[in-house]
Amino acid sequence: MTKEKIEKLITQLTLQEKVDMIHGNGFFTTKGVERLGIPPFKTSDGPRGVRKDFENDAWKDIGLSYDYTSYLPCNSALAATWNRALAYSAGKLLGKEARGRGKDMILAPGINIMRTPLCGRSFEYMGEDPYLVSEMVVPFVQGVEENDVSACVKHFAVNNQETKRLDVDVEVSERALREIYLPGFEAAVRRGKAKGIMGAYNKLRGAHCCHHDELLNKILREEWGFEGITVSDWGGVHDTKEALLNGLDMEMSVNSDFDAYYMADPLIKMIEDGEVDKKTAYAKIDEKVRHILNVMNKLHMLDGERCAGGYNDYNDKAVLRQTARESIVLLKNDRNILPLDRKKVKRLLVVGENANRQHASGGGSAEIKALYEITPLMGIQMLLGGNTEVVYKPGYFNEDIGNIWANIGASENGQADSLNQDSGRTQASPEPETQAASEEKIKHQKEMNEKYLQEALEAAGNADAVVFVGGLTHNYDTEGQDRADMKLPYEQDRLISELLKVRPDTIVTLVAGSPVDMSAWRDDAYALVYSWYAGMEGGVALAEVLFGEFNPSGRLPETFPISEKDCPAVTLGEFPGGDKVNYGEDIFVGYRYYDTYDIAAAFPFGYGLSYTDFVMTGIRAEVIEDTEQSKGVKVSFDISNIGGRAGATVAQIYVADKCPKVKKAAKELKAFEKIYLEAGETREVTLMLEREAFTYYDEAEHCFKVDAGSYMLLLAKNAEEIVDITEIEFAV
Ligand code: BGC
Repeated sequence: MTKEKIEKLITQLTLQEKVDMIHGNGFFTTKGVERLGIPPFKTSDGPRGVRKDFENDAWKDIGLSYDYTSYLPCNSALAATWNRALAYSAGKLLGKEARGRGKDMILAPGINIMRTPLCGRSFEYMGEDPYLVSEMVVPFVQGVEENDVSACVKHFAVNNQETKRLDVDVEVSERALREIYLPGFEAAVRRGKAKGIMGAYNKLRGAHCCHHDELLNKILREEWGFEGITVSDWGGVHDTKEALLNGLDMEMSVNSDFDAYYMADPLIKMIEDGEVDKKTAYAKIDEKVRHILNVMNKLHMLDGERCAGGYNDYNDKAVLRQTARESIVLLKNDRNILPLDRKKVKRLLVVGENANRQHASGGGSAEIKALYEITPLMGIQMLLGGNTEVVYKPGYFNEDIGNIWANIGASENGQADSLNQDSGRTQASPEPETQAASEEKIKHQKEMNEKYLQEALEAAGNADAVVFVGGLTHNYDTEGQDRADMKLPYEQDRLISELLKVRPDTIVTLVAGSPVDMSAWRDDAYALVYSWYAGMEGGVALAEVLFGEFNPSGRLPETFPISEKDCPAVTLGEFPGGDKVNYGEDIFVGYRYYDTYDIAAAFPFGYGLSYTDFVMTGIRAEVIEDTEQSKGVKVSFDISNIGGRAGATVAQIYVADKCPKVKKAAKELKAFEKIYLEAGETREVTLMLEREAFTYYDEAEHCFKVDAGSYMLLLAKNAEEIVDITEIEFAV
């Protein structure tokens, strides 16, 4: 449909019809205008699969038998692959199934920066580094949108905690905003051409992000040229006039009084009462409708030539499995005790409740009715077949307590309640329960833990190998709630320490969505494997890594600090903070802080081991005058696999300004490449650094700029392990 036709359509719409198009008429849909052939606009969560369908006006699982979908690895897992091609394929699968389920927009991906290790939704996001996030979000969005489905990149912006999530007011310097918190969104818009952006619940500098003039009108539209739809987070709108004027196109919420939404009847009334200039109001409403119609047009919703979508096929399954495999991070492997040799393990003890737990249905709006989910225990059992006896002991007791989302779907008001009741909180302040009941629960938990611990220890002496699978669950990695600390729950520290005493060769495996404190036993464990909520093939992938069928290649997308107390936001008392949170750490987020201020981490950003060894040398660089942005740097180096197995590693290039004119982080990631090499293979790799790799945001001049001078290019295995350095002169 041409632009002229869209304009004509707009003139044919009544005010009521236009208003109906810009607010929810169901929890996940707007109203269409049948007489003009405009369909309703249907959305669905979410980040790791197409969410189950709810009733239109109740948070009640319809209980369909046909809304099971693929369960994708969570976004932090995807980011841990450092593999752009997998991000594209995962997005493509998500878009395809969203289309298959008749959706127009999938509410994904989430890309908020991991400012602290404690944010309950870290598992939905892509880590702490704006460059890594940008590189992963672009192909993901492109993959989704190939299916005539809009992505909805969320949550714009500075939505970095769940505590007080509806109202917390973020103060952040313009520089940190531009350098740390916005680049992922900018990349998604400019390069990924995302058609949807979701506003965040929180405020930025006093104004709610869902109707934030600076964010939505100025930065998103005027600066970045966004042409898509801005959608509010569910219940994130607080004012009709602001919603009208400040750049929001579509209001969605959690309550079923749809006509009472801010951009519904109250908007019409406001115009009638003359509280807003009529001409301005009409022009603004037309603009919103235009954005929606433009996207509908691009998705072929208006001309009937639309992609049909489809179901998980053979290739998709391979993508899911490969993504899970490549996301797993080998953190320790002293004495090369991994991989285990399945021929030598005749009796294997698997300990830990997470070995036997499925996670897909938890976490909040990221929940999934998975087609299936292979747990680690299933994966191990199937890989070993009947040749090895697999004995399972839970090791610790996990009763689902304190999860505010546990009842969603069970109660008619689930998601609305989760919002209305608490607006986000920290684990330390659980739902009020009677003192006696909670004491009773704790006592029971302790008794069960003791029993399970003894059973596990007893079995440990009697096995050829012991694999522990613990970590977190969506009681902890969850929407609506931050963690109070990084400690492992359910007395796992004690269990792991005891196991390591009787079996120092215990393989410690953690399944979680965010970093945990491992200080109690980290030095004692020889082998440590970190797996995420890795999707429906996660258990297979983990088993393959443990038994050497797959050579691990995941790298941490975020620093694993020793304890949350090392995190600057926490140290400053600005996480979770009060009603107002001042991002006093400024640009020093993640490794930018640990590096610059020399704070030891448990495992640095970008870290991960392999069953083979790679050598990278000979970094050389050349300033090129004629790249797209007029000046860039070509970097080359040689990489060899000197070990005995094929495998992949991630070469990381960090840039360090030798004489910064303003305060800068010690170094910043500006290029990376995942490289697969056969045993003994050597290759020359060349990467391009565009001009923006050398810029910083100048607050006085309100723009990114480069200072002429010397820059070091660091070839690294991770943020701590630099293997080679070269220098360039960058003349502006
Ligand atoms: C979440 C969004 C989600 C929406 C719809 C909100 O609670 O913050 O990420 O897309 O609900 O379920």
